[in-house]
Amino acid sequence: MPHNITVVGAGYVGLTTAACFSKMGHKVVCVDKDEKKIKLLKKGKSPIYEPGLEELVKEGLRKGSLVFTTEMEKGVKNSTVIFIAVGTPPKENGEADLSSVEDVARNIGYHMKEYKLIVEKSTVPVRTYQWIRRIIQMYNKYNAPFDIACNPEFLREGSAVKDFLHPDRVIIGVESEKAKKLLLEIYEPLHAKVLVTNLSSAELIKHASNAFLAMKISFINAVSVICEKAGADVLEVAEGIGLDRRIGREFLNPGVGFGGFCFPKDLSAFMHISKELGYDFKLLQEVLNINEGQKLRFVKKIKETLWNLNGKTIGILGLSFKPNTDDMRFAPSIDIIYYLKNEGAKIKVYDPQAMEKAKRIDALKDVKFCKNPYEVAKGSDCIAIVTEWEEFKNLDLTKIKKLMRVPVIIDGRNIYEPEKMKKMGFFYKGIGR
Ligand code: UGA
Repeated sequence: MPHNITVVGAGYVGLTTAACFSKMGHKVVCVDKDEKKIKLLKKGKSPIYEPGLEELVKEGLRKGSLVFTTEMEKGVKNSTVIFIAVGTPPKENGEADLSSVEDVARNIGYHMKEYKLIVEKSTVPVRTYQWIRRIIQMYNKYNAPFDIACNPEFLREGSAVKDFLHPDRVIIGVESEKAKKLLLEIYEPLHAKVLVTNLSSAELIKHASNAFLAMKISFINAVSVICEKAGADVLEVAEGIGLDRRIGREFLNPGVGFGGFCFPKDLSAFMHISKELGYDFKLLQEVLNINEGQKLRFVKKIKETLWNLNGKTIGILGLSFKPNTDDMRFAPSIDIIYYLKNEGAKIKVYDPQAMEKAKRIDALKDVKFCKNPYEVAKGSDCIAIVTEWEEFKNLDLTKIKKLMRVPVIIDGRNIYEPEKMKKMGFFYKGIGR
């Protein structure tokens, strides 16, 4: 059954949610106060690179089922169900900054004249719904009835549209039958597994999921260190433990550490709220420590190979925190380049999508941005693979070898086979093998 839906926030989660709901047959208004972004979206252009998203935006605009606006009042008036999908960035102390959520909730309260279902889509600390309810009650000048629900999103950047339309599960945290019925109807077209919970559980499921996934990555990164010392191959170990269905193979790929706008900030926010509730979640601190250590270990590997980095040219392949996205937020590449520059290295970089965003980052101002991987290779003393873009897996390695000053490849994502690389004459090191 088609519904009128408003999504507030046109970031990764908000825009994907709005575009996918319109694809699912609903009528959607997407509100964002960033005028530049809305102007772009009205022309059918996505402000972020995300496979399939721009096509859905264009389709929604053409069918008239997706409208973009900066006016909150229009968004509130139009729909019974309003999703809050604004950013919850980290504060200095790791706590989630909920001021945008508060601002939206206040505005909804102020403009609503009849029943509304307000749904938390943004990642928020447990019990945020109580604050949302309080603030809406305070500003509810027409005394309109309302419900609050929590419907966390589990999409990954780079496969956001696919993840949204084919989720492992849909979590619906509610406290009324009416709210449950509305959300079940909205998600009905996906035929997905739905779990209905109370509001606190739904909020907690999101933080606990991200923390668990990050823990898996740090676990395998720690195991990769032991593998190197013991002569084991971490990929074989990951496969061996991943075959146990209780563990699973996914998220057991060692690398240069996790980044992005979700794991680092959500771990910090989860630790912070845990402390507030009286529990010191030390395990999560260790997950972050291992992650930081992984970047340093990667730089150390380059140093151990080249001895001295002062004056050497290091070519970096991949800047975004993962492939298929141009997102540079909390990308491990930024810290890695910073450490290498501190050692006196000259840096050349290439990324298939993230270079425009990377150019705006202060720490990357004096690096040389190249047109392709071969330009990076030319005259380099080492190539460091930081993001596992498909393009890098299919490089002409013979050409790369000829172009480099010395054929050293330090592969932070294990995209090449060590034996094959050695046979080709490269000094090659992967992670944990
Ligand atoms: C993550 C979660 O996977 C999503 O379910 C969640 O919805 C999202 O956060 C969010 O909270 O919004 P995302 O950050 O887009 O998604 O990307 P992931 O694919 O999870 O990768 C995160 C980081 O972990 C990347 O830097 C990636 O390179 C790294 N990673 C991932 C590894 O180092 N090893 C792995 O095996 C998997």
